[in-house]
Amino acid sequence: MDTEVTMEKIVSLCKRRGFIFPGSELYGGIAGMWDYGPLGVDLKNNIRDLWWRTFVHERDDIYGLDSAILMRKNVWEASGHVGGFVDPIVEDMVTKKRYRADSLLEDNGVENADGMSADEMTECIKKKEIKSPEGNPLSDVRTFNLMFKTNVGATGGEDSVSYLRPETAQGIFVNYKNIIDVFYPSIPFGVAQIGKAFRNEISPRDFIFRLREMEQMEIEYFIKEREWEESFEYWRKEVMGFYEKVGIPAHLIYEHEIPKEGRAHYSKRTIDFEFKYPFGQKELSGLAYRTDYDLRKHQEHSGVSMEYTDKNTRDKFIPHVIEPSFGMERLVLAILTSAYREDEMDGEIRSYLALDTKISPVRVAVFPLLKNKPELVKKAGNVFSVLKKEVGRVRFDAHGNIGKRYRRQDEIGTPHCVTVDFDTLEDDTVTVRERDSGEQQRVSLNELPSLLVK
Ligand code: GAP
Repeated sequence: MDTEVTMEKIVSLCKRRGFIFPGSELYGGIAGMWDYGPLGVDLKNNIRDLWWRTFVHERDDIYGLDSAILMRKNVWEASGHVGGFVDPIVEDMVTKKRYRADSLLEDNGVENADGMSADEMTECIKKKEIKSPEGNPLSDVRTFNLMFKTNVGATGGEDSVSYLRPETAQGIFVNYKNIIDVFYPSIPFGVAQIGKAFRNEISPRDFIFRLREMEQMEIEYFIKEREWEESFEYWRKEVMGFYEKVGIPAHLIYEHEIPKEGRAHYSKRTIDFEFKYPFGQKELSGLAYRTDYDLRKHQEHSGVSMEYTDKNTRDKFIPHVIEPSFGMERLVLAILTSAYREDEMDGEIRSYLALDTKISPVRVAVFPLLKNKPELVKKAGNVFSVLKKEVGRVRFDAHGNIGKRYRRQDEIGTPHCVTVDFDTLEDDTVTVRERDSGEQQRVSLNELPSLLVK
């Protein structure tokens, strides 16, 4: 049996079971956009809720925020995105297809191409006589701004220009002053935001890994400058703790220290948390020390002081920032990849998702043993109603034989299935089957909700 986890298996399961569909599929699809079906939405919502609970509700030093996606273009000028949020692009001189130059160089064995300037890449292409994947000559390398430009309002013109945000972080920086004025937080404190971000990636690829529309979950944690190293270490552990909480074992996450040339313009230190996806070990999330770069730039451009006054010493200073930044879709893909399993059960090959109970779209499925026995269907309906209230995320399924129903739930990662049979009518007990082992036990209906919650 070939149990290797491949992208084909993951993509096919996602489509077949209603997790993720290609965006605009009816009209041939659109690169870099994917739609979440009923199970994908629930998986994503559960991850989002767990993240928010962990980093906002269970702490008293992090404030939540939901800022607008469209902001004035001054925000993006101040942050450096208008001038510097670019990728190097190169064109096939014959087909006119465009490629990300650093990826193309790396595909041709050039190391650390992402640290090179456009001119250095052009020179390297010429020196090594690198051709396009179709074997044609390439243009010089130029830079391409990744932000989606739009106009706000009906008047048009330069003043109306805005951009879909390429990171949620800037919404936090432009609200930093509101947070300190309203809540008087003691430093260190953080602001967290979850929301959509958009990047006009040159070559979106690998399913939901490199997207043009994505969701980020970010924290800007404001600190005193001298505390940055200690805080960085603290957040490093917090990030790993969240991966374990969401069900990705620590040994599947690799830390990659990004050298100076590879870091974003605002960062003095960055660690990428990488995961071994079926297409290679790649960035899952990032942790950056953004210094006071963003607040200082916003102070310069807006003319508004970004200083924080220390409550004890009355010292005034611009806080520095540690930023843990998670990409929702890369997390979903890492979760699906690490949870995907194949084995043999009851003489059949089955695939299942060993999802953590906290995030599985369905927590428990309830079946009547036979769908044409009204007394069983009625009793199973009662069990369903009780579990809906006391456990939540319950599914009722009466279609097909019981083995098929188990397989369906296994494939979407449901941890437990409850079957109502003729004995249930006599003694109020049901069969509870556990997903990974397939083990079954008889449980009384009185104990069922508390057992499942435990
Ligand atoms: N605010 C910092 C920031 O945006 P980033 O490394 O560019 O840093 C943070 O992005 C995270 O967002 C990445 O680690 C990744 O999880 C996710 N991400 C970035 N670009 C993405 C893309 N094109 N498609 C999917 N996820 C992406």
